[in-house]
Amino acid sequence: MTARSHDSLQDADTLIERFDQVRSHTEQLASPLSPEDQTVQSMADVSPTKWHRAHVTWFFETFLLAEAESGFTPFQDQYWFLFNSYYESLGPRFTRAERGYITRPGAHDVGVYRGNVDARVRDLVSTLDGGSLEKLAGTIELGFHHEQQHQELLLMDIKHVLSVNPLQPVYGGCAAPQSESDQLGWVDVEGGLVEVGHVGDGFSFDNEMPRHRTWLEPYRMADRLVTNNEWLHFMADGGYDRPELWLSDGWARVNAEGWRAPLYWNDLDGVWHEHTLHGTQPVDPGLPTTHLSHYEADAYATWTGKRLPTEEEWEHAVVSDGQADAEEAGGNLADTETFHARTAGPPTGHLRQVYGDCWEWTSSSYLPYPGFHAPDGAIGEYNGKFMSNQMVLRGGCALTPPGHARLTYRNFFPPGARWAMSGLRLADGGAPA
Ligand SMILES: [Fe+2]
Repeated sequence: MTARSHDSLQDADTLIERFDQVRSHTEQLASPLSPEDQTVQSMADVSPTKWHRAHVTWFFETFLLAEAESGFTPFQDQYWFLFNSYYESLGPRFTRAERGYITRPGAHDVGVYRGNVDARVRDLVSTLDGGSLEKLAGTIELGFHHEQQHQELLLMDIKHVLSVNPLQPVYGGCAAPQSESDQLGWVDVEGGLVEVGHVGDGFSFDNEMPRHRTWLEPYRMADRLVTNNEWLHFMADGGYDRPELWLSDGWARVNAEGWRAPLYWNDLDGVWHEHTLHGTQPVDPGLPTTHLSHYEADAYATWTGKRLPTEEEWEHAVVSDGQADAEEAGGNLADTETFHARTAGPPTGHLRQVYGDCWEWTSSSYLPYPGFHAPDGAIGEYNGKFMSNQMVLRGGCALTPPGHARLTYRNFFPPGARWAMSGLRLADGGAPA
């Protein structure tokens, strides 16, 4: 794994402060959840909350303490088996689809594990000499971003867990006022020979590099995400009944799984309702449609006569629109505590909802950039080995931790996945539809 560090993070005090912030935020997200809530695995793709809390701890224990701590011994040998996610080179691990069987260690015991590793990481970082600290800073920073990825997953996963409980429990957050869908605008983008991919000293995952050139025909991008109002029109026009709109694999899923609406939509006495982290509510017409598979996003785009953007088009459009800096651009990320997509607001002449709200499906397969090489060792398994049968999403969502969204971030899921907070933005022109 190649992780680039800010110079400022190579100072021990700064690293420890940042470590404490990231670690305590995970515990804050888990705090509304009972030990029982934290144990359930509602489907194979979902992991229990306490598993997330333990796995991110295992990550620091494995990739930092085991490498650098004098006289290292694991906190518990079995935890290496239980909380290894997918690192084949680190030995056998417990079956992903059966993480809900891990009733012990309990949520409290996981907290003890976290506390032990936290103290040891602080000790290690505060006693390393400057050269050693510089060498390990990249790994520590990777641990921060890894834990932030799991903070987002923790919320996506508990949303699914709570959705299958007949009592429809509430996690938290607050509903936005009911809104109307505003007019869709378009932003023209010139195209040409452009550069995409990460550049500079800030952090990126290895899959965002190398930066490289690519050719884009002129195109245009919708200035906001597709809304529930628009999605209801798609449904009313037989969107889920017309095979000509669907990719073959998508149509097979529609029929095999009985898709009639986005995940979490339920028809209650003739009114569509949506399960959210702040409860079940009538579908709000002005909000972005979310929890869509890539297949649904593609079928909708076909229905409109438009298409999904490629990931390169998405990135270049955002740069061209002056929103390359995610922090500066802002957006509806997890710090708004809506934990749900918001309305786009009035047109601005620029792209709206770029960062946050919903991860945006692109038409790009998740593939290595030209010249990409996975790093040596177990950390090389972080991203590279998943570059098959997945599609790229861009931008972040309302569950993404602040500071974790960025221009070149390449999220990826299989095209049938619906439990991620995913939506779509249309593109037109340029590449063939
Ligand atoms: Fe992980």
